[in-house]
Amino acid sequence: MKIAIGNDHTAYDLKLIIAEHIKKKGYEVLDLGTHSSEKCDYPVYGEKVAMAIKNKEADRGILICGTGIGISLAANKVNGIRAAVCSDAYSAKMCRAHNNAQILAFGARVVGVDTAKMLVDEFLNTEFEGGRHENRVKLITEIEERN
Ligand code: RB5
Repeated sequence: MKIAIGNDHTAYDLKLIIAEHIKKKGYEVLDLGTHSSEKCDYPVYGEKVAMAIKNKEADRGILICGTGIGISLAANKVNGIRAAVCSDAYSAKMCRAHNNAQILAFGARVVGVDTAKMLVDEFLNTEFEGGRHENRVKLITEIEERN
């Protein structure tokens, strides 16, 4: 499985740790930057990862900024993308199981390294349950199509 990863300057160090963590587990990593701690604008990287998912260049995405909020808001502007900001393992699991989120976002200024690894593990190890959740996710997509 290929994982696209994107971050702003606040999350450069954590991104490297997370990329290494998932490589060790056998995932292929597509690192879309930013590639240093020099100040940059998080929407750029939110869009890059979202587009990689939309264009099927990656199967799932991970986005990290200071809070996870700005970068996920940017990703969610791309049609068909569901990016979930999580800071606990339960939510990271359920955003896959119930919401079929393709992208996990979190904040480098919010969670520590061990929590970040747990979020990523839950997110990558959980499949969408489908069933009753299928129609709810479809209703989200319809909002996009209507507006
Ligand atoms: C950068 O200072 C910060 O605003 C950004 O990383 C992020 O937290 C935005 O949502």
